[in-house]
This record gives sequence, structure tokens and C-alpha cells, in this order.
Amino acid sequence: MRIAVVGASSGLGRCIAVGLARRGDQLAVLARRYDMLAEAAKEAGPGTLAIACDVTDEASCHRAMEEAATGLGGIDGLVYTAGVGPLKRLVDTDAETWRRVLDTNVVGAARVTKVALTHLEASRGVAAYLSSWIASITPPWPGLGAYAVSKAALDKLVEAWRAEHPRVGFTRVVVGNCAGGEGDSTPQFASQWDGDLIAELFPIWSASNYLTTSLVDVENLVQVMHQVLHTGADASIPSVAVVPRSPG
Ligand SMILES: NC(=O)c1ccc[n+]([C@@H]2O[C@H](COP(=O)([O-])OP(=O)(O)OC[C@H]3O[C@@H](n4cnc5c(N)ncnc54)[C@H](OP(=O)(O)O)[C@@H]3O)[C@@H](O)[C@H]2O)c1
Repeated sequence: MRIAVVGASSGLGRCIAVGLARRGDQLAVLARRYDMLAEAAKEAGPGTLAIACDVTDEASCHRAMEEAATGLGGIDGLVYTAGVGPLKRLVDTDAETWRRVLDTNVVGAARVTKVALTHLEASRGVAAYLSSWIASITPPWPGLGAYAVSKAALDKLVEAWRAEHPRVGFTRVVVGNCAGGEGDSTPQFASQWDGDLIAELFPIWSASNYLTTSLVDVENLVQVMHQVLHTGADASIPSVAVVPRSPG
């Protein structure tokens, strides 16, 4: 399959892109940090395309997705993993932060999907979006309110695309705590979080059993993504959850 992974410079997106390439798919990897994308493409293997893309910029999304479609000769699968999750209590979340989170996690997904749509319709392909269990399985975690709201909106966005474009498969992939892979394949999601606030919130998350001792094995996530994409539009899977084995 010809697959574009958006948000593939680090973390889970990178693991998914490399994992799919190793299973024989032809990949384009997209994100802002080109050097890291180039490394990811190298890791994925010959023929993998590295394409700079900022999902908050309409022109960038258009240019990058069309470049992916041309380079791959079409698109059978789109994986949207781009996401940001600042750690802030809601009372400290300003409008600029809200806009950045929603622009990246929700509007970016809509922008990228819009460009990929004609290619996915032509191939009867599948678009899959990484959501989080904090939007649908656990209650919103204190300090991650804006993130939880954005992922709940993303969940509804996936349903809305499906309602308007039944020829394409649209899949919501709910993910629980996952440590990703090694090096740049480790999620960088929390790298900017404030240490003092983490220290305040950690006991609350822990008491709520959100900090599970078991984590999602990223290889299981890659396997599920492979299955979701290779099922195709006709038998597409609307929603799947990959969460840790047990809480606590
Ligand atoms: N790790 C977990 O336990 C977990 C659990 C549930 C869900 N998830 C979801 O998994 C996805 C990946 O997160 P991660 O944990 O692996 O963290 P990560 O390493 O920070 O990955 C985030 C990715 O999003 C990209 N990105 C951010 N802003 C972007 C923009 N404006 N344009 C293009 N790409 C952008 C980043 O690339 P650039 O900075 O290079 O642009 C990076 O590749 C997210 O959607 C997250 O919500 C993760």
C-alpha cells in the first residue's frame, strides 16, 4: 500500500511509519522537523519519501500531501498522528494555547484529509487518526483538559468525514499510554511540560489509576494500524482501541 503518515518525525507516528515500511508498504513521512524526517525515512528503508509539512498551514498541507501523492503514485492510506498536548490547568489555558491545540489536533486533520480525499476515493483507501483514551475511556486528566477536548473533537471529525464520504474508510484509533520505541521513536509529547506542575498532578493521576504499570506495546499498535489500513474502505473498521492490559 501507498501510505502517508503525518506526524512521523518522532514518537508513535515514526514507529508506525517504520513498522509499516518494514511490513512492505510504500511510505511518505510528513512533519515539520525535516532532519528527523530524513532519519525516519532512512530507518524505514529505500524509497521512503520525507516531506516537510506544517499541519497548521493550509498551503503547506496542500503542497506536502500532493507531493506525497505524486511521489507514491497515489494514496491508499493516510495516518494522522500529528498532535500537541500542553500541560496546563484550564484556568491557565489562554486562547492562544486553545487555538494551537485545536489547530494542530483537529483543524490540521481536516486540512490534510481534504487534500488526501480525492486520492483515497480513487483507491478506496483508509484514513486513520490517532486519538487518546483520555477523550473517551478515562475521564479527562487534570492538566490535559485542552488536549482531551481536542481529541474528543477529532473523534467526532472522523465520524463526520465518514458520513460525507462513504467511499473512504475512516478509522478512529484510540491509544492508551505508550512509550513508543527507542531514540527519536520515543514520544516527545511531554518534553515541554513544566516539572513543578507534573509533580503536582502526578499524584492525582496516580490515585485515579491513569498511570498504568503496563503500557501499550508499540509493536501491537503498528500491527493494528497495518490491519486497519489493509482492510480497505469496503470492510473498514470505524473504531479500534489499543490500550494497556490492566490499570493500576
Ligand atoms: N504516547 C502516548 O502514550 C499517546 C497516547 C495516546 C495518544 N497519543 C497520540 O499519538 C500521537 C503522537 O504523539 P507522541 O506521543 O508520539 O508524541 P510526539 O513524539 O510529540 O509526536 C508528535 C508528532 O506530531 C508532529 N507535529 C506536531 N505539530 C505539528 C505540526 N504543526 N505540523 C506537522 N506535524 C506536527 C511532530 O512533528 P514535528 O514537531 O516535527 O512537526 C511529531 O512528529 C499524538 O496524536 C498523540 O495525541 C500518544
